Amino acid sequence: MAIYETLGRYYDALVKDEEASQSWVDWIESFNPGSDFFELACGSGEITERLAANHTVTALDLSQNMIDAAKAKEGARDIVFVQGDMRDLHAFGQYDAIGCFCDSFNYLDGMDEVKAFFAEVRSHLKEGGLFLFDSHSLCRLDEFEDDYTEAGTFDDGTQVQWIISAEEGKIYQDFAFYFDERTVEEHHVQTVFDPEQLIEALGKAGFELLSISGDFGEAPLDDCEKYFIAARAV
Ligand SMILES: C[S@@+](CC[C@H](N)C(=O)[O-])C[C@H]1O[C@@H](n2cnc3c(N)ncnc32)[C@H](O)[C@@H]1O
Repeated sequence: MAIYETLGRYYDALVKDEEASQSWVDWIESFNPGSDFFELACGSGEITERLAANHTVTALDLSQNMIDAAKAKEGARDIVFVQGDMRDLHAFGQYDAIGCFCDSFNYLDGMDEVKAFFAEVRSHLKEGGLFLFDSHSLCRLDEFEDDYTEAGTFDDGTQVQWIISAEEGKIYQDFAFYFDERTVEEHHVQTVFDPEQLIEALGKAGFELLSISGDFGEAPLDDCEKYFIAARAV
């Protein structure tokens, strides 16, 4: 079962947070990203539709169910959505800014994929273009050393159990959806990267680091959930 095949249908019900989405957009806009914006791994489009109020937005995601959820939103009218893999952007042009938000970057599997991804992003940015993304902080490995479990029931009666755990530089998210007649499981693996290695790889890929901060710039790097990273193509 592909990731987000079932979760894509319930993603907003599980994690949608209007205030957080607005904070994302405020953080993005603080870097003046220009007019053409390419959002990678746009998911259900909560950030995407807000960006579309001020930018021409192209949005890509691996999961058709996530794209379908995004497309159904009121602010999605003028957004070009594409189903695809952010590790292969050969079909796309060049943009003023490229973003990848809210844990999506962490689906990359190891530094070799990160280096190839940075090179791919760099080649689709105009000179001076912005690259904005976040990455799980190293603190999350300690946080999920003991399993974290959440459970709930969706409006259609489907029950869900969600277990997050961490081991050896990876975060595992295991979902079980209990439908009337069957149970569907989804297993997600995310990599937690060393920020020093990310910064070094950005430099080698042709980026100047503009800023790295914790949680929308509101937390120190050694005590935050996510590193927020802004870089410029040089
Ligand atoms: C945690 S969700 C975040 C979605 C969205 N960025 C947001 O802010 O809500 C992660 C998303 O990454 C997408 N994704 C994971 N790997 C991908 C890949 N290789 N290419 C494109 N999308 C990917 C998933 O389909 C999912 O929609």
